[in-house]
Amino acid sequence: MNILRRGRLGSNVKEDVMKFTTSLEFDKEIFESDILCDIAHTTMLVEQNVISEENGKKIIAELKKIAKKGMENLDLDPSLDDIHMVIESELIKELGEDVAGRMHTGRSRNDEVATDLRLSLRKKVLEIIGHLITMEKNMLAVSNAHKDTLTVGYTHLQQAQPVTFGHQILSHVSAIERDISRFFDTYNRINISPLGCGAMATTGFNLNRKRTKDLLGFYGIIENSMDGVSSRDFIVETMANISMLGTNLSKICEELVVFSSAEFNTIEIANEYTSTSSIMPQKKNPDVAEITRAKLSTLNGELVTVLTIMKALPNTYNRDLQEISPHLWKSVYTLIDSIQMVDGMISTVKVNKERMKENAEKNYSTATELADTLVRECGIAFRMAHGIVGELVKRSIEEKVEIKEIISEVLEKNNLSLSQEKIDTALDPFENVKLRNVIGGPAPEEVERAISSFNEKISTHKVKLDEKISEIKTAEKNLLE
Ligand code: ARG
Repeated sequence: MNILRRGRLGSNVKEDVMKFTTSLEFDKEIFESDILCDIAHTTMLVEQNVISEENGKKIIAELKKIAKKGMENLDLDPSLDDIHMVIESELIKELGEDVAGRMHTGRSRNDEVATDLRLSLRKKVLEIIGHLITMEKNMLAVSNAHKDTLTVGYTHLQQAQPVTFGHQILSHVSAIERDISRFFDTYNRINISPLGCGAMATTGFNLNRKRTKDLLGFYGIIENSMDGVSSRDFIVETMANISMLGTNLSKICEELVVFSSAEFNTIEIANEYTSTSSIMPQKKNPDVAEITRAKLSTLNGELVTVLTIMKALPNTYNRDLQEISPHLWKSVYTLIDSIQMVDGMISTVKVNKERMKENAEKNYSTATELADTLVRECGIAFRMAHGIVGELVKRSIEEKVEIKEIISEVLEKNNLSLSQEKIDTALDPFENVKLRNVIGGPAPEEVERAISSFNEKISTHKVKLDEKISEIKTAEKNLLE
């Protein structure tokens, strides 16, 4: 007997409608959370004398059996709507309605699903943070190995100034560092309990919302009952973080693609992350970076989808909210896979040091430092120095001569002079790098300092992450005992 289809609506169901409206397919993401939520609620009902201890014990024992059985072994009848009703039906089948039918006292699927989503998502967010920590560590190792590897940096994708490959890698670490802290921030807003909000107006039963919050290891309660069943901002916030991180990862993919082309030729992606052409035997295509770049684009679409589902809903529960879930989980999995791909590609990338050095030595990447040297040594204004070096570059290009060959003449014309040693130092790209020793600069010793500062941050993240993982484990263990 279908427990939802015997009262108000009767047993007539249309199979296509049921298939269309059920959430069972993606409820697998909340199955375990739902059992925990049921156990916490039942425990509290007993403690509050809303149901008898005897009935409570039977219900909880049966819930544990259902958890062991696994969702795939339950009767996933789509006319039961969702996992909440599947579990309750299973309970009723085993214990009878007079016992099992008491579990849902003072509760609704509306506060239930909101609770489940928060329980499942908090774990996924911690999983994401774990992957980011691993990736960041690997990136720091690459950065450290290349803190002396001279290369050129770009603005507008035009050669700009000398840096090191280590510094370049660190620029991505720096962004991912913020991504990690964003996920930790969001965690605090995910980890609050809507349980007890009921359908939308709480309940007349004497529930103890603080108790279920503690039993489930939540940090706090989302108090207002109408907001509690309605709000999905914790999902939007997570997906916005996912989108931002995805954007940062996509930029890395873009650089892998561009810099591994023959024109740049500064890096080579490991063979296992590339493919060849079915017709052009010479080809080594950066397919994994490209596919990652494309998959990451879908994250933005998922975020906009969820915002659009939410934007015109009257407050409290609307079934539209159900349709948010598959987009959330798809984003989470796409992101996790992508992190692992990017991590793998960066950790195994081959660096063409000669080519990087060659690029740094060509195309006037030291022009800024030459102007700066004129400012320091000759006491002229930077704007004037900028003009003089600009003229030098212009003549060098037009007359096809090295700056070194014409600099004395140009300086003399401007009534300036610079020792040969100063000129050589200014035009040496590695000297440029070494000189850029201010906070956040590419000088090897500064990069080394930055690496150790990032390593410290990672250690702090790791401690925080382990703390949160064990908070959840402890809560689950206590609850199940
Ligand atoms: N399957 C629903 C969801 O994912 C659960 C809540 C259904 N509530 C309701 N009143 N129909 O949102």
